[in-house]
Amino acid sequence: MNKYFLDLGQQPLANNYLSTFGKVQKKYHLKLFFNTKTKIVSISKRIPSEKMFNNTYPYRSSMSQTMKNSFFKLSLEIKRKFNPKKILEIGSNDGALIKNFDKKKVIGIEPCNNLAKITSKNGFVTYNKYWNYKLAQKLKKKHGNIDLIYSANTLTHISNLNDVFRSISHLLSKNGILIIEDPSLLECMKKNSYDQFYNEHIYLFSAISVKNLLNEFNFEIFDIKNLSTHGGSIRYYIKKKGNKNIKIKYNVKKQIKNETKYGLHKFETYKKFSKNVKKSKINLLEILKKIKKNGKKIVGYGATAKAVTILNYCNINNDLIQNFIDITPEKINRYMPGKKIKILKYNKNILKNYDFVFLGAWNFKKEIFNKEKKFIKKGVKFITHIPKPKII
Ligand code: TMP
Repeated sequence: MNKYFLDLGQQPLANNYLSTFGKVQKKYHLKLFFNTKTKIVSISKRIPSEKMFNNTYPYRSSMSQTMKNSFFKLSLEIKRKFNPKKILEIGSNDGALIKNFDKKKVIGIEPCNNLAKITSKNGFVTYNKYWNYKLAQKLKKKHGNIDLIYSANTLTHISNLNDVFRSISHLLSKNGILIIEDPSLLECMKKNSYDQFYNEHIYLFSAISVKNLLNEFNFEIFDIKNLSTHGGSIRYYIKKKGNKNIKIKYNVKKQIKNETKYGLHKFETYKKFSKNVKKSKINLLEILKKIKKNGKKIVGYGATAKAVTILNYCNINNDLIQNFIDITPEKINRYMPGKKIKILKYNKNILKNYDFVFLGAWNFKKEIFNKEKKFIKKGVKFITHIPKPKII
C-alpha cells in the first residue's frame, strides 16, 4: 500500500529551463509516498518520459570534475574486476563513462537526442532510444548477450520498473554483472535533502527496496559501495541468482542493517522527515529574508534540478536570490524553472558582484569551495540548507 507523507507543492519540470520568462509553465503536484510492502519511496504524478527526456535535455554528466573522476575510477574497476567483452550503459548521457572504454566494446542507450548525438559523433555506438523490452530484444538479436550492464541515475527515472528489470534480465548473460548507481534514500533522510525529489526522480532507492525489487527477477545484490556523488549515492553490484561463482559480500547485509536501524522500513520515519522538511523551509526563508533586509545580494551556485524543487517549494523569487550561475551551456541565459531568476554564465570573477552564495549544487561543495578559495578569503559567505539551513 502506498502511504502519503510529504507535499512539495506545485513543481514545474525540473530541467525545463526557459529562455523567456512569462510563458505559463505547466506545474505538477509533487507528493511523496512510501510503499509499506516493497518499501519503495516514489512520487505520485508520473509525467510521460517524452516530456522530460527529449532533444533539449540540459543535464550533462561531464560538467563536473567530480563526476568525471568517479566514472574514470569506475571504468578502471570494471576492467580490472570483470573484464567484460561487451558493456552496455543505460542512460549514457554525454559519454562521461563510456568514453573510458574501447569504442568496440561499449554501447550507449540515450533517449535525449542532443546527448546521444555527442557520443555518436565521437564514434560510440549509441541508440537514441528509451530503455524497454522491445529495445532489449533488438539489441540481443544484433549484439548477443551483454556481460556488463551499467546504469547511473537513470533507472529511478523510469516509471515501469518491472519492464526495466525484465529487459535487463533478457539481455544480460547468465554470469553477467549489472551495476546500478542512484542517490541513497538513507543519505537523503540523514541530510534532509528533500531536493532529491523532483518530477524526474520517480523513485528514491534504498538497499532494502532494491533487494525487494530484484528478488522478483531472480537478481541479487552481491556488493555495495557508498559514494559521495549526487549528495550520497549507492552503487549496487548485482548478479543473477543462478551465478554461484560470486560470493555475496558482508557489506550488503551491513547496509540493510544500517537502513533498518534508521527506520527506512517504517512509515513513521517518513512522517518525521516530512516535519523536518517543513522546518527547513521556514529556516531557509528566515535566513534569506534577513539578508535581503540588510540590502545584500545573493546568487545561487549551480542551477540544479534540486534547486528548482527548493525555489518552488519555498516560493523563493528574485527578490531573495537575484541570479543563479552555471557552467552548462544549455542553462545559461535561461530562467530557473517556475521562477523569474535568470541563470548567468559562470566566470571566475562573477562572485564579486554578490555578498552571499546559495549552494544549489551543494553536492559539489568541496569542488566549489576549492574553486572559489579567493572569494571565501575575501569574505563571501555561503548558504546551504544541508543538513539544516545555515550560513557557512
Ligand atoms: P547536479 O547537482 O544535478 O549534478 O548539477 C550540478 C550543476 O551545477 C550543473 O548544472 C553544473 C553546475 N556546476 C557549476 O556550474 N559549477 C561547478 O563548479 C560545478 C561543480 C557544477
